[in-house]
Amino acid sequence: MVSVQEAGALAPQALFAPYLITWQRHSGRSGLPWQHTRDPYRVWLSEVMLQQTQVSTVLTYYPRFLARFPDVQALAAAAPDEVMALWAGLGYYSRARNLHRCAQAVVQLHGGVFPATAEGLQTLPGIGASTAAAIAAFCHGERISILDGNVRRVLSRLLAFDGDLAQTQPQRELWALAQSLLPVAPTLDDMTAYTQGLMDLGATVCLRSKPLCPRCPVQSVCRAHASDEVQRYPVKTRRLVRRFESWWLLVLRSSNADGKAGTRYWLQRRPDKGIWAELYCPPVFADEATLLAALPEVLHAQLQALAPVAHSLTHRELRLHPMLLEVAPQADAWPAGQWVDEADLAAYGLPAPVRLLLQALPG
Ligand code: ADE
Repeated sequence: MVSVQEAGALAPQALFAPYLITWQRHSGRSGLPWQHTRDPYRVWLSEVMLQQTQVSTVLTYYPRFLARFPDVQALAAAAPDEVMALWAGLGYYSRARNLHRCAQAVVQLHGGVFPATAEGLQTLPGIGASTAAAIAAFCHGERISILDGNVRRVLSRLLAFDGDLAQTQPQRELWALAQSLLPVAPTLDDMTAYTQGLMDLGATVCLRSKPLCPRCPVQSVCRAHASDEVQRYPVKTRRLVRRFESWWLLVLRSSNADGKAGTRYWLQRRPDKGIWAELYCPPVFADEATLLAALPEVLHAQLQALAPVAHSLTHRELRLHPMLLEVAPQADAWPAGQWVDEADLAAYGLPAPVRLLLQALPG
């Protein structure tokens, strides 16, 4: 590692790593619960949770998950539904399924020990190149760069890289450039500070719409800043288009059978592919007519249309239309599914908007 003093003699790009490391040690984040560990299980879990989710949300899920599954063996041995239940609300549920599969692969194929290199880690389910690099850098000091969305933004600004990041070739080029920026002969602690520094810079300074350039530790070597073109980067042509979709939810509610107190809901386990895969949800219909056709006609007049709920997913703009129907405990002519006692809902993986919807139903 070059000290900041020695770095003065180096080309601007060679200053990036020493500046970043020094800044991370003094001003970066240091109290997050997944820092200061070299346990790949803990680092891996945090990285997967943080892939599409904000730190503030992960802070509540991470300790709960670890308390229930303290190591990879415990997670590998869990029932899929329990993993889902602890994940529910974090979204992007393929992450939870891959997490479970990955734990099983680590136990069955690697004797319960995560591979020690980024290359080995990438062979596991749900571990992409950037996540593998983060685990290898944090736990083993491997000299490898992460390159998630935030880091792409940071580095494309730093280098005024104007390749289109919607394309594969420019993505590869940026990755090669990211490798060229790594600290020289780093220690394990250097790689930890550097990797965390990249994340911290992207999350707290080099923000997408209002970057805080005056606070940036690498402002003096940033090409986009030098030409006053920070907002021009990253260049990405393909815009995400969200398809609009309406879903009709048949919310069947009854009092509990056999004189037991409380209410229960009729829920279906969603298919193992697609939106909300493997989560529990009231039966879903593409339109109102199909929902009505699934019910005996005598019940139609008792359906209560509730206020629609908007919910955005990565590729969909969902509009949920809940239709509440109070039914007798004995009746059971419903679409496939099962009764779930309201008191047991917490143990089931429910999509966050569905959980909120059930909590807010009229009494
Ligand atoms: N985002 C992804 N990984 C992170 C980490 N280790 N700390 C904070 N934010 C992150």
